[in-house]
Amino acid sequence: MAPRKIIIDTDPGQDDAVAILLALASPDEIDLLGITAVAGNVPLALTEKNARIVCELAGKPETRVFAGHDAPIMRKLVTAEHVHGKTGLDGPTLPAPTMPLQDQHGVDFIIETLRAEPKGTVTLCPLGPLTNIAVALQRAPDIAERIEEIVLMGGAYFEVGNITPAAEFNIYVDPEAAKVVFDCGAPITVMPLDVTHKALVTPARNDAFRNLGTPVGVAVAEMTDFFERFDKEKYGSAGAPLHDPCVTAYLIQPGLFTGRHINVEIETQSELTLGMTVADWWGVTDRPANATFMGDIDAEGFFTLLTDRLARL
Ligand code: RIB
Ligand code: CA
Repeated sequence: MAPRKIIIDTDPGQDDAVAILLALASPDEIDLLGITAVAGNVPLALTEKNARIVCELAGKPETRVFAGHDAPIMRKLVTAEHVHGKTGLDGPTLPAPTMPLQDQHGVDFIIETLRAEPKGTVTLCPLGPLTNIAVALQRAPDIAERIEEIVLMGGAYFEVGNITPAAEFNIYVDPEAAKVVFDCGAPITVMPLDVTHKALVTPARNDAFRNLGTPVGVAVAEMTDFFERFDKEKYGSAGAPLHDPCVTAYLIQPGLFTGRHINVEIETQSELTLGMTVADWWGVTDRPANATFMGDIDAEGFFTLLTDRLARL
């Protein structure tokens, strides 16, 4: 089977970094056409730089990295240095990138690629706020029917919020963008906190990364050593939740995940619940289903896949 052509839209972020590494380690399943950076965990100047740092860590400096939007569609940017550190990639000491940033704007790259590739053959993988994807859809509505699938990390239902009591960070930062994406009609698969909070880097799992003994394995272990503080303090969890790598793992081994095809709406009006993903998990409305919302993960299988693939870099 030919590898899936994808664009990763991302705000690295340690977990974004692991998602990108997993994609770059899996060329038989994933043809990474490009990476578009967006402001989110840290400002755009850092997310685009971090994306290039990660590509060079993977030994793939030929990967094309584009800068997208530096702020949400109509709100002030909210960042998450309290989780990811000042650089967004705190933990390991990694060299500044030497590979170039592409001149083209990330949104132009998304539109151009979807129009150039055969219809229904490109998957978009947003790992941060949905600003770039939404602006591409607003500027070029024709691309919506050309998208094979949007597989995104964001939202929450049973797990409720991680940045407010009601909202998950990626959706909260740009709720208007999220509404554009969830209303666009393309097939959407959602990796919410309900799943990613079950993908925890326990000490044994982090030792497996470190014991790879490679620059990638050690760097990932050091990233999660840093990244886990927030969730351990807040939730008392057993380790860092690997949110974004769930997206990449789904592309490689979809059977690791189970969920429901349901209606998901985005709260954009109420300040109290702004950015909430109102998921009709129990089918109590007649609102049309617009997303496959994942609810469970085979965590052991996920970490076996991830560790095996990271060993290849
Ligand atoms: O809420 C978790 C999400 O927000 C992840 O994508 C993490 O990288 C941050 O962007
Ligand atoms: Ca992210």
